Amino acid sequence: MSSLLVDNIGELVTNGAGEGPLGIRRDAAVLVEEGRVVWVGPPAYAPAADRRLDAGGAAVLPGFVDSHAHLVFAGDRAAEFAARMAGQPYTGGGIRTTVGATRAATDNELRATVRRLRGEALRQGTTTMEIKSGYGLTVADEARSLRIAAESSTETTFLGAHVVPAEYADRPDDYVSLVCGPMLAAATPYAKWVDVFCERGAFDVDHARAILACGQAAGLGVRIHANQLGPGAGVRLGVELDAASVDHCTHLSDADVDALAGTAHSDGSGTRTVATLLPGAEFSTRSPYPDARRLLDAGVTVALATDCNPGSSYTSSMPFCVALAVREMRMTPAEAVWAATAGGARALRRDDIGVLTPGARADLVVLDAPSYLHLAYRPGVPLIRQVMRNGVTP
Ligand code: NIG
Ligand code: FE
Repeated sequence: MSSLLVDNIGELVTNGAGEGPLGIRRDAAVLVEEGRVVWVGPPAYAPAADRRLDAGGAAVLPGFVDSHAHLVFAGDRAAEFAARMAGQPYTGGGIRTTVGATRAATDNELRATVRRLRGEALRQGTTTMEIKSGYGLTVADEARSLRIAAESSTETTFLGAHVVPAEYADRPDDYVSLVCGPMLAAATPYAKWVDVFCERGAFDVDHARAILACGQAAGLGVRIHANQLGPGAGVRLGVELDAASVDHCTHLSDADVDALAGTAHSDGSGTRTVATLLPGAEFSTRSPYPDARRLLDAGVTVALATDCNPGSSYTSSMPFCVALAVREMRMTPAEAVWAATAGGARALRRDDIGVLTPGARADLVVLDAPSYLHLAYRPGVPLIRQVMRNGVTP
């Protein structure tokens, strides 16, 4: 059994025992065996190892957990972005443009895009990435989207209910029946989660409830896109259905915040619905950012994710999202880094990632910086010196 000691770490973010909310340890070492962390402590007490990686006094943190991304698509919508920057609003209507391009693409074209974006994210420190379908919207196109997604991630999400496709525009009930019936059956072998875009112009709360309940009955975990473009009952529906995460949360009422806060247990135990904030979407649609402080102050568990997609947020960069969260959403750097690592893990109901404590997967990032603070302090700078996934450099 080969072991590796990551040594000479100036600042280790464990998200476990240690200083402050990030469980920081200074001057630390991490022993990795068989893809897992088996020991964390001061270098002077480190057990013998077969190999050694010298972090050179730099900061080391858990790999980012990006719990919300739409990578299976074809084409781009740069012109739509340019029009928005010239004053056009974002409505989500452009999703249908991407659906057309995705249906016309070959498997290998879709596969190449997923791999390119997954690789891009990995180089920016993302060691776990959720991938949704949602640009196929036929039984065959949703199934192949998920089959291709599953080649790159175990965290795959069936989003057949992204929008009602044009051919069903005047009979949305029929589309919901298709999603709950043959589409779900074709998707389930490749999907872990079910998701719905619950928003005006997409699916209302009754349709969303029906689709999520079918997915749940088929054994999928629940997540939901809710309250992105306006207020609505989506967030409360997510909490009611014990969703792992409600995503966007840009337009929240006090009742929404109370519902999210009510699911959290202060001792960290129990089932939680996480609020996943996607500041890349507000950046790229020039919209007001979600009120992260209100959620955090109410005790809600917050995650950060990219929402990587060709319409509302074409970034694969978790460091960029951390910087936005700090500068634009008043999260402290520690809160933002926690949300991008341990928070993302909670949003995927995982306890083996997002932390660097004994037993966790050895998914980590060595920064080209002495502290995690630099992720927000030096925005746009490639600070990811090295990435390790399952104890190996991918
Ligand atoms: O999360 N909101 C719905 N879905 C995506 C946008 C997809 C698109 O515009 O293509 C999102 O922002
Ligand atoms: Fe999304």
